[in-house]
Amino acid sequence: MTRIETVTACTSPVTREVRRLDLQEAWQRMGWRRGCSKALLVSREPARVDHRRCRMGASVSTVMVMTSDLVTRAQSLAAQHLSDAPRRWAHVQGVAATAVEVASRLDPAHSDEIAAAAWLHDVGYAPDVATTGFHPVDGAGFARSERMPELVVSLIAFHTGSEVEAQQRGLLEELNTFATPPLAVLDIVTYADMTTSPTGEPISAEERVAEILSRYGEDNPVFAAVSTSAPELLAAVARIEERLSSAQPR
Ligand SMILES: [Fe+2]
Repeated sequence: MTRIETVTACTSPVTREVRRLDLQEAWQRMGWRRGCSKALLVSREPARVDHRRCRMGASVSTVMVMTSDLVTRAQSLAAQHLSDAPRRWAHVQGVAATAVEVASRLDPAHSDEIAAAAWLHDVGYAPDVATTGFHPVDGAGFARSERMPELVVSLIAFHTGSEVEAQQRGLLEELNTFATPPLAVLDIVTYADMTTSPTGEPISAEERVAEILSRYGEDNPVFAAVSTSAPELLAAVARIEERLSSAQPR
């Protein structure tokens, strides 16, 4: 098997090394297709990368993967639909920053999907995206229409205890049109959302729960949902804190 010494994510013009994988893993994870002497990333963003080829042969050790295009596109879509709402946009930027940091330490294999989901987790609030009025479902539907990977779509759909609110709103069937993401991945997005204030500042999960409850009236479905799901939201945050404390320091 051809050994790849370095797999590099390219965020032109900046290039950064992210992980080491062998060729088979790279193909499985990144969707590589072999050419005679070149490799082309085809599965994620073909329209954006089909002009970007790189040499890959037995003697070539550096392979360029363009997964960061996914994050760039998610960020761009979020800005397009949310940047007119300054508070929401500040919150989303804070969530994305936290998600990137945590994903890089706990789940680098999914860091691009996690970052993309963080950028888009609240896009369903945008007036031109909202359809049902339940932002996880509307945001996930939007992400799917934008051909985001299904993991990104499912993270948006199920972030921050959305299942409880979907049940209370009678929208469980709509939510369940999306796949349930792996809990260990979902926890990272939920953690980022629950530890970021509405203005993008770090906040404790307990303060965040209190803040949400104070913002919505008792007759609002969000109030009821967060009241019900608070123990699980706090548990998700605790799981991430435990994983972070066990992870190697950077
Ligand atoms: Fe959020």
